[in-house]
Amino acid sequence: MKKERIAAVVLAAGKGKRMNSPDKQKVTHDLAGRPMVAYTVETLKSVRFDQIIVVVGHLKEQVIKAVGGDVLFAHQDEPLGTGDALRVALFVIDPSIDVVLSLYGDDSAFLSKETLRFFIDAFSKSRADMACLTVVRDDPTGLGRIVRDSREHVVRIVEEKLASDEEKRIKEVNTGVYLFTRGMLDVYLPKIQRNETGEYFLTDIVELVINGGGAVLAHPLENTEEWFGVNSPEQLREADALKRGLS
Ligand code: UD1
Ligand code: MG
Repeated sequence: MKKERIAAVVLAAGKGKRMNSPDKQKVTHDLAGRPMVAYTVETLKSVRFDQIIVVVGHLKEQVIKAVGGDVLFAHQDEPLGTGDALRVALFVIDPSIDVVLSLYGDDSAFLSKETLRFFIDAFSKSRADMACLTVVRDDPTGLGRIVRDSREHVVRIVEEKLASDEEKRIKEVNTGVYLFTRGMLDVYLPKIQRNETGEYFLTDIVELVINGGGAVLAHPLENTEEWFGVNSPEQLREADALKRGLS
């Protein structure tokens, strides 16, 4: 059987308003003296993807400097949301690519290459059309919740600002690490609609794929310490301490 060709896409074009640092791109903040996005790209390089693409936009020069060479860049002109950011990368993904891993530049600095390999392997074996990596958090505040049906199958991901009170009680959250077959991405990414927040949410693709008859796997992360979302100065300080081994 022909070996699958896999591309990795890092989304790093957002404004990161909650960080209160208008002159510094969120993903370039340092963890133990290195820009957080540099850890992500280094891990991706060690997994040996066929293509690595970084989506840049807001303060893009800082991100380009932080990630170094050997990657391609896709340019998002306006930060219209994570769904729009990945759509921009579609134009750069080589036609020979079969599978796309997508992740965020502000929460993937602790992910190991072993976990990424394991996730890719589980996805290939499952023959699903899409997979998302999830994690259980005692305090899921601010994160996208994984909604499952009575048979434990994932139904959709709902962002906190659009979640019902019942959905807000869900503790399994979206890490933002996804795998897609190229075919599914080409079909469903352009179908994501701009929602009432004014953005295109990548998370909406789950429901679109399922409604189109596709299968979505939600794969819980085993080592929960490998995932840390950084959206605020407080979370940045905590992540920095963790990287320095101080906590
Ligand atoms: C996102 C997920 C949420 C998940 C969380 C995990 C969506 C809609 N929500 O929320 O389900 O639990 O991450 O950390 O995807 N970006 C762009 N262009 C944009 C907007 C964002 O490139 O137009 C990039 C940002 O630079 C960032 C990443 O995408 O690195 C995630 O964006 P962010 O706004 O931080 O999403 P969250 O609210 O954290
Ligand atoms: Mg974030």
